[in-house]
Formats: sequence, structure tokens, C-alpha cells
Amino acid sequence: MENIKTLEQIKRPWVIAHRGYRGSYPENTLVAFEGAIGANSDMIELDVSLTRDRIPVVIHDNTLDRTTNGSGPVSEHTLAELKELDAGSWFSTKFSGEAIPTLVELLMSVKGRITVNIEIKPESFESPAVPDGIESQICELVEKLEMVDSVLISSFEHSFFSRIQRWYRNQSKSTLPNIAPLQEVPLSEELALGLCSRQGAYSFHPDENFVTPSLIEKLKKDGFRIFPYTINEEKRMEQLIQWGVTGIISDEPELVWKVIRKLEVD
Ligand code: G3P
Ligand code: MG
Repeated sequence: MENIKTLEQIKRPWVIAHRGYRGSYPENTLVAFEGAIGANSDMIELDVSLTRDRIPVVIHDNTLDRTTNGSGPVSEHTLAELKELDAGSWFSTKFSGEAIPTLVELLMSVKGRITVNIEIKPESFESPAVPDGIESQICELVEKLEMVDSVLISSFEHSFFSRIQRWYRNQSKSTLPNIAPLQEVPLSEELALGLCSRQGAYSFHPDENFVTPSLIEKLKKDGFRIFPYTINEEKRMEQLIQWGVTGIISDEPELVWKVIRKLEVD
């Protein structure tokens, strides 16, 4: 399903493929996102940062070393330089030649087929804001591609959200993209709820280690969805689904499906 409103109609937990189908493919590459679509995921999650020539690209780390045959910071390379790199061989020679996708390439390739959770890396936050800041470029792209109903924008850097909302207000757009604070350090329930309402959040994306049944219940009662990350272990998926999470962010979308079917929540 490519529309978030349509996804809301389903009763079962959403299957969100982390960095594509990361368990079986080289993360954040087009082949990994195709794998996630093939595995019937409801949403793909991906990470975005800026190149030296300020193009949004899909890669998780600040540096190229782990997931490509290049080295050094992503932000010190131009797009042309990044496009020379192999982002697949480190995972398996089967995937040699896979490239680092730009955000526009990725969005165009999945448009109409699946919803997209765009995670903006905090390292791309610039203060003060600049006209071609990553957040403005993402808003422009989403608008140009008419994908506002298909994206959920998340970040550990929560200051991006007011900028996104301002960008939309300045363009007099009535439909804003859904946004989601990511949270890696534990927060009290009160602070988590306060954060979500202050930010006008659609959903809360916490590290799975500080999710409790009570937090889930309170968030849902206040109208927020909860998508913890990153759960790859079957028993833990079962537990979180039984506790009532709205969805599971996982490297293993097929395993999430297996658990959904086993628990008969589909
Ligand atoms: O968006 C969930 C998850 O991707 C956040 O952590 O480091 O895997 O991007 P990370
Ligand atoms: Mg991420």
C-alpha cells in the first residue's frame, strides 16, 4: 500500500522494513527496497544525509567505510564521487555494483508502490537554517513528486520538525507530511507524551528497549502510533505485538509477517 491513510485501515501491526530488507540485502540500496516490497512490507525506512554538493543521498553512516568500497565522510564527497562507489559488495558479491541511491531516485522508484519513512540524519542539521537545508530539500521533493500522503518523516533531531511545518506553512500547503520523533535514550511516559504533542507527531519511534505496555497504552490513548526500532528477534516481536505496538521496524520483514500470522492478528 502506498498511502498512509490506507494503511490506517488495517488492524494488524505494520511491517516496516529497516533500511530496506536489511537482513537479506545491502542496506539502503534500491535492491534492498525492492526486496522489502517483495516481502510485502507496509513501509520502508531509509536514512538520508547530504553530499558535499548538497544532494540528499540514502546512506546510514556518516562515513563510507562500512557499506561501500570508499572511505571518509559522506559530506566530503560529491554525488559524482559517491556514484563511482560499490554499495553492494561488502554485503555479498551477488550485489556488486549496487550504487548509493539519491533520495529522488529512491522515491521515484517506489512511488505508488509502498509508503516511505524518511529518517533525516541529525548530522545534516544546520543552524541557522539555510534555504537548501536537507529538510527543505526533502519537503520540495515530496511536494514535486506528490508523495505527501505516502511519507512519514522521522529524526533524532527534533528541531527539524518545526522547520518542516514552517516550510509547508510558507507554501500555504494544507496537507503536511506526517512526522515522528525518534528517541534513543529512555524518556518518562510524561516526557514522551509531551514530546509527541509538542511536535504534532503522527507516531513515536523509540528504541525498543524502553517500550513498556503502559507507554504503548498511553500513547495510543492520546492518538499517537508507536513504531519501536529495531526488532529482529521473533520472541521479542511477539511480545511487542501482544503489548499493542502499531508496527515493528525490523531488518526481517518476513519474520514480522510470520509472527503476525502465528498470533493471528492479520
Ligand atoms: O528509524 C529507526 C532506526 O533506523 C533508527 O536508528 O541508527 O538504524 O537509523 P538507525
Ligand atoms: Mg534509520
